[in-house]
Amino acid sequence: MIGQEKAVEIARVAAYQHRHLLLVGPPGIGKSMTAQALALHLDRPKTEIRIVHNPENPERPSVEIASRDEVTRESEAHRGTEGDLITPTEAPASVAERLGYRCPRCSFYSHPQDRYCPSCSNLKQLIPGVTGSGNPFRDLVGGILELTVSPGGNPTESVRTTRLRNGVEEVVAYERSGDHIKVLDQRALERRRSLQKESPRKVLVKLDRTPFVLATGASETELLGDVRHDPYGGHPQLGTLPYERTIPGAIHEAHEGVLFIDELPHLGHLQRHILTAMQEKRFPITGRNPQSGGAAVRVDSVPCDFILVAASNIQDIHHILSPLRSRIAGGGYEVLLDTTMPDSEANRMRLAQFCAQEIATDGRIRPATKEAVLELIGEARRRAETMDGRRNALTLRLRELGGLIRTAGDLASISGSDLLEAAHVREAKHRARSIEEQITTTYGSLQGGLRRDVTESQRQSMGYYNWTENPNPGNFQGGYG
Ligand SMILES: Nc1ncnc2c1ncn2[C@@H]1O[C@H](COP(=O)(O)OP(=O)(O)O)[C@@H](O)[C@H]1O
Ligand SMILES: [Mg+2]
Repeated sequence: MIGQEKAVEIARVAAYQHRHLLLVGPPGIGKSMTAQALALHLDRPKTEIRIVHNPENPERPSVEIASRDEVTRESEAHRGTEGDLITPTEAPASVAERLGYRCPRCSFYSHPQDRYCPSCSNLKQLIPGVTGSGNPFRDLVGGILELTVSPGGNPTESVRTTRLRNGVEEVVAYERSGDHIKVLDQRALERRRSLQKESPRKVLVKLDRTPFVLATGASETELLGDVRHDPYGGHPQLGTLPYERTIPGAIHEAHEGVLFIDELPHLGHLQRHILTAMQEKRFPITGRNPQSGGAAVRVDSVPCDFILVAASNIQDIHHILSPLRSRIAGGGYEVLLDTTMPDSEANRMRLAQFCAQEIATDGRIRPATKEAVLELIGEARRRAETMDGRRNALTLRLRELGGLIRTAGDLASISGSDLLEAAHVREAKHRARSIEEQITTTYGSLQGGLRRDVTESQRQSMGYYNWTENPNPGNFQGGYG
């Protein structure tokens, strides 16, 4: 960050003390950068938010908060249910046959997806379901063939049988797993069963996330979450359960992190929801489209404890909802960013470094000569005076200055020069003029440009009056300028 010492200092405090922040100033002076920098100083999130199926009332799923410890423990428990992988030849021959790896006729091994044995062309697969009480191999294997549903939801064929281990008979399951066979011993099976007994859930906001969420011009659903529509409704086989259709909003994803809202005033009526979320630190997720099946679903008390960093232009601050502003001011800071910094040797060096960084990150710009950098610094000084009325200062409207560097760099490349020279910067200044400046140069004035910019058909219509300074559109006859 160049300049903006005050904003940087306050952002640091806001990160450590969990305060909200309103950054005010014109575009391109580092508001977004400050917000991102603040997030870098936050601890990594400590909890995961999950939505849990509610079997009594599927349209009211509940929320579960899991700590980092719990998440780690559970993922280890899941690992325990994953079993060991063996090659089909390592499995008992009868098991390999039942799972479709081994041909019962010629003992050739192949993938279970091959229904016919590639060696003897025999139909090798026992069809699940057909096998059952009438299964002729039943007593041979000493187990039952069953169709289980893995936690992933895909039906996996598995054979359950018993084996002797250290003189003790124990249950063991063999499952298809691509090229391999998965072996689950009794402990793994029990662990899996206890996990399946718990209600199904989905991770709404995962533990490992970036603690910075950008919500610029966000729609209501992006900001507050939603429950997707399901054309099959709650149909037990075809439909997706409501808990699975729940989508977090930016406010939830920013839990334990920064919610950055660029141009806060443009959120309009949604600011009220932001205020509620800040006050309650929880916000329900509901289907926001009244026509959708999701509208009947509601998940209460979804956590959203975030640091709000909001940005605004100076001219829009009065469009910020006043209770929201007082909330930020009361529990945080309002900062006006600087548009200029003093023209000192140290600050000139920082601008020179900025030029170097812009050139390096762009990757298509030739290295600049010292004279070109001095020309850019001179322009920064000129802009501080013309745009902000500050003498002996350097502009901090650095996005625009970056644009000037890129234009100059393009000119240097196109002209085949090895270096970005001062002349390219001067030429770029001419090209990088705003459209208003260009109109004024070409047409003498902005209004002059507007007047010339109408076609004959527009001239014939009443609309033309909008383009003239004539304040009296009723005066049709005299209206043609
Ligand atoms: N104070 C600053 N220090 C360094 N670079 C800056 C600064 N302000 C703006 N920039 C440059 O301009 C770009 C846009 O800045 P940004 O933070 O998005 O501005 P804003 O959010 O105020 O519109 C940045 O990516 C950076 O390259
Ligand atoms: Mg920005």
